[in-house]
Amino acid sequence: MKYEIKINHAEKSKIDEVDFNNLPFGKFFSDHMFIADYTDGGWKNFRIEPFHNLSLHPATSAFHYGQAIFEGLKAQKDSAGNALVFRPESNAKRFNLSAERMGMPSLPEGLFTQAIEEIVRIDHQWIPSGELSSLYIRPFMMAVDEYVGIKESDDYTFIIFTSPVGAYYSSPVKVFISEDYIRAFPGGVGFAKCAGNYGASLLPLRFAKQKGYDQVLWLDGIEKKYFQECGTMNVFFVINNILITPPLEGGTILDGVTRNSVIALARKQGYIVEERDISTDEFFRELALGHVQEAFGAGTAATIAPIIGIGFHDKYFELPAIETRVISTAVKKELFAIKSGEIADEFGWMLKIPIAVHQAD
Ligand code: COI
Repeated sequence: MKYEIKINHAEKSKIDEVDFNNLPFGKFFSDHMFIADYTDGGWKNFRIEPFHNLSLHPATSAFHYGQAIFEGLKAQKDSAGNALVFRPESNAKRFNLSAERMGMPSLPEGLFTQAIEEIVRIDHQWIPSGELSSLYIRPFMMAVDEYVGIKESDDYTFIIFTSPVGAYYSSPVKVFISEDYIRAFPGGVGFAKCAGNYGASLLPLRFAKQKGYDQVLWLDGIEKKYFQECGTMNVFFVINNILITPPLEGGTILDGVTRNSVIALARKQGYIVEERDISTDEFFRELALGHVQEAFGAGTAATIAPIIGIGFHDKYFELPAIETRVISTAVKKELFAIKSGEIADEFGWMLKIPIAVHQAD
């Protein structure tokens, strides 16, 4: 089904104000945004407008009670100039899982994908080139009832904006294992991409940064001994040539699209992958024996970010040099080649948006 989307073009593009050779993550925004309203029990008013600020009532429900969810995905260009969006259907599905958990309405997956297609097409000139750069796409939904009191909102707004970005992490990351703070518990909202999960991570992140780390590595909330995920990324380890990542069962970690893609590519390349609990005891025992070969985070913004060191209590543990890392290097290479259209998309992951390229006579 095709949805009718009204388009109101920006009068003047801001693209000349942006230095595409210097793209910090999340600082620049393209010319347009997609908006849809949920009122009277249905989605309506599908429109693309020039990018603009929102005017919201101070009692807007999302500000107070946190009914706010989001997604992140990326578009790149192939060598012919077409736009390629990575796995939008997976983000559409996850968006609806988050919506369900937060008591928010689901959004038709076809609308999610069509809106992304339209917004990327209209701002395709904002897709940067280069391996580390892409057009980051940020869909989000918020509760907009103007009301003081705890209840599910009746009305919601869904918006997609895009942002040309460079690398999220400019160098390998150091992570600190948090025992004082917990990100998620079974039965909670750990699997949902809801704003509150990120808000609650900021104070522990500040403390980790004060100790010289880039991110927090979370443990489970019950025994405080099993790895969960890093801030902004799922976590992977390679121990004795086996790629290990914490399992989704229990609902405490995000079902990352990059996580899922890393697992699929590693298995395809012949590596053994285990989705299972891994404890700090096991990890540090194997590290002491010299069996830990790699650690990395995987996420849309970060892609595959090598973890170079881990802090636990007051000790710092350096991990093997980046140049020695076989599995993450091979997976990252193939992932990039698929995303940029260099090799065939055998998993059917890419949404290709044809862009008419006008050749000069
Ligand atoms: C993403 O990887 O897309 C995320 O949502 C992480 C975000 C905090 C930038």
